[in-house]
Amino acid sequence: PRPIIIDTDPGQDDALALLLALASPELEVLGITAVAGNVPLALTSRNVRIVCELAGRTGVTVCAGADRPLLRTLVTAEQVHGKTGLDGPVLPEPTMPLDKRHAVDFIIETLMTREAGTVTLCPLGPLTNIALALAREPRIAPRIREIVLMGGGFFEGGNTTPAAEFNIYVDPQAAQIVFGCGAPITMIPLDCTHKALTTAPRIAALRAVGTKVASAAAEWLDFFERFDVQKYGSEGGPLHDPCVIAWLLKPELFAGRGVNVEIETASSLTMGMTVVDWWGVTDRPKNAMVLRDVDADGFYRLLTERIATL
Ligand code: BDR
Ligand code: CA
Repeated sequence: PRPIIIDTDPGQDDALALLLALASPELEVLGITAVAGNVPLALTSRNVRIVCELAGRTGVTVCAGADRPLLRTLVTAEQVHGKTGLDGPVLPEPTMPLDKRHAVDFIIETLMTREAGTVTLCPLGPLTNIALALAREPRIAPRIREIVLMGGGFFEGGNTTPAAEFNIYVDPQAAQIVFGCGAPITMIPLDCTHKALTTAPRIAALRAVGTKVASAAAEWLDFFERFDVQKYGSEGGPLHDPCVIAWLLKPELFAGRGVNVEIETASSLTMGMTVVDWWGVTDRPKNAMVLRDVDADGFYRLLTERIATL
């Protein structure tokens, strides 16, 4: 199986991404690191453990990381995810412990001890932990197999400001470090995730699985959808973070191209914008594979089938 580290700020969509990864034998989840984002770190590190316990995977290493962005004040998203970050189903408080290591130490240690070129990083929140690891131990960059992240948006615009998507907006300086690190990057922006809508039949199919895990997942989607439908007026809300894991499992569900991506960190109007050179109008080097399309039915089929096994 392909070894991965998931860096996350659950978030209902993060929770579904974690379930999909934990349910997939093609992936070896070496550890899950929490970062401040959708809600503060105390809650994201709690929420990761709630999801692991729901999945029956209490042996997974879970580390807490940065409690705030590199330079900016933390912006959270309770308006989307509720007060806890995982509003929806009622689940017990977690009892599994957090690992004693800081997330940044865990990421560095794992990349430096595992065979070079084997470990994939999957960031699903602001990129603070990944940037801190790269800054603290630059020798990890060439050892990373790939960074597959959810973040940014270009034709679709932003969801937090007109220009910026939440994960990049919260810590643009961290995103700038990551996009400049030289490791292979696959970016899954809003342009792709806004095509993976949580329609009523898709949520119903998940609920119909009938297991405890699938029911909780369906309730998370119900909660998440309420906000997004009001906001976007679409039939169902976009489901962002599980696309990262789905791409690792079935890349044939996605389409995109290799382009240059730079992060805006100076202008207050467009702070955190991902400037994607989709049409190749500059000679800036290609530093990311940007996915723009997804086969939404195939994606939901995969998600539902896998969650059904937990
Ligand atoms: C991203 O922001 C968060 O609210 C979601 O979990 C996702 O990672 C989408 O912009
Ligand atoms: Ca997230």
